[in-house]
Amino acid sequence: MKIAIGADHGGYQLKEKVARLLEQLGHRVEDTGCHSSDSVDYPDFADPVVAKVAEGECDRGILICGTGIGMSLAANRNRKIRAANCHDEYTARMSREHNDANILCLGARVIGEGVAVDLVKVWLDTPFAGGRHQQRIAKYSDT
Ligand code: RB5
Repeated sequence: MKIAIGADHGGYQLKEKVARLLEQLGHRVEDTGCHSSDSVDYPDFADPVVAKVAEGECDRGILICGTGIGMSLAANRNRKIRAANCHDEYTARMSREHNDANILCLGARVIGEGVAVDLVKVWLDTPFAGGRHQQRIAKYSDT
């Protein structure tokens, strides 16, 4: 898959690790910043990932901030985006199976690196179940 990844300063270090993981797993990575731990505003780094996923340039996106909350709020302003802030394998799996999440948000200050690695793998590997979930998604999202 081609995956866009972005972070603010709170997520910068974890982003670097997740980007390397994605490459090791054989994915193509579009890293849209930030590129240091200097303080920045998370919406400025949500937008490029949102654009790449919404316009079909990338298959999926990953956004990382301190809690994952700011990134998910910003990303979900676009009706083509279903951004899920996940903290464990269960929420990561269900965000794909039931919600067809196309952006994964992570809170680098909430979860450890090991949990992040596991849930990124699960999120990438889990297909959307479709069926009744598709009609629910269509009520709030442009698919
Ligand atoms: C930055 O301090 C922090 O507010 C940000 O990374 C994020 O957690 C916002 O939701």
